[in-house]
Amino acid sequence: MSSRSDQLNNVNTAFSRQSIIYDDYDRENPTLTWMRKQVMKHVLKYLRPNDKILELNGGTGIDAEFFTEKGFTIHCTDLSDGMVDQMKKKFSSERHSGKVTIQQCSFTELDKVGDKKFDFIFSNFGGLNCIPDLKQVTRFFPSLLNKNGRVCLVILPPICPWEIIQLFRGKFKYAFRRLKRNGTLANIEGIKFQTYYFSASQVMKALGKNFKLLKLESLALFTPIPQMEKIPKKLPGLAKLLNKIDEKISGTFPFNRIGDHIIVTAEYTGD
Ligand SMILES: C[S@@+](CC[C@H](N)C(=O)[O-])C[C@H]1O[C@@H](n2cnc3c(N)ncnc32)[C@H](O)[C@@H]1O
Repeated sequence: MSSRSDQLNNVNTAFSRQSIIYDDYDRENPTLTWMRKQVMKHVLKYLRPNDKILELNGGTGIDAEFFTEKGFTIHCTDLSDGMVDQMKKKFSSERHSGKVTIQQCSFTELDKVGDKKFDFIFSNFGGLNCIPDLKQVTRFFPSLLNKNGRVCLVILPPICPWEIIQLFRGKFKYAFRRLKRNGTLANIEGIKFQTYYFSASQVMKALGKNFKLLKLESLALFTPIPQMEKIPKKLPGLAKLLNKIDEKISGTFPFNRIGDHIIVTAEYTGD
C-alpha cells in the first residue's frame, strides 16, 4: 500500500511526462475537443460577469486561456511540475498580464492559496479522481468562496456504459474497473497511481449541506469515450450524431448521472 506522498509524487511524475504532449493530444482528439466545448458551454451559463475564478488541477492552462479570453481573471493551480511549466509558457506574454496568476499547489493543500476569495471554483477533466476522499479538497471551499460563490467539478463517475460494454469483448477487469471500492490503477506515461470514481451524490455529500445543486450533466454518455478516438476519426458522421444525442439528453435524469464524466455545478449558500 503506497503512502499519500507516494501517490502525489507518482501523479506529479505521470502528468509531468504527459504535459509535453498534452495540448497536441487534446487538440487532435475529436471527442476531447467536443467534451471541452460542452464543459465551457456549461460553465459560461453559471459564471457571472467579473467573477474571479480559482482553477484546481488546471493542467497546461487550456481552460484558463479560454476564460481570460472571455474577460475573466483566474488563479490557476496544479500539482505537477511539468503542467505548471507549460502553464507558465502559455501565459508568459504581455497580453495575459493581470488576468492569470499561477501557483503550484495540490488541491489537498488549498490553505496555501492564502486568504484570497473567489466567486467560482473550477476543476475539469477528472483531476479530482486522483484522491480517495473529495472532502480533502471540499473542506477548503467555504473559506475560499465569496457569498453565493459557485463550484463546477467535472469528474469521472462509477458508471460509464462504454466501459461496461467492453464486457462483451472479454475485457472483464476494464469493464468494472470504476466500481472497485478502493479505486483502480491508472497508467499514464508508464507511471501507475491509484484513481477513484465518484457519483453525483458522493460529490454533493462531500460539498456538504451549505451547497445547493444547480445543475448536473453527463459528458460523453452516447459519445464514445476519448480513448475510442478511432470511432470519430473513421466515422465522423456517426460521432456527430451521438454528440447531438448527448447534447439533447445530458441534463436529463437519469442520463445526467452516468457517462465518461459528469459535470456538477453547485452554489455555496453559507455565510
Ligand atoms: C486529466 S488532467 C486535466 C487537466 C486540465 N484540467 C484540463 O482540463 O486539461 C488532470 C490534472 O490533475 C492534476 N492533479 C492531479 N492530482 C492533483 C492534486 N492533488 N492537486 C492538484 N492537481 C492535481 C494533474 O497534474 C493534471 O494536470
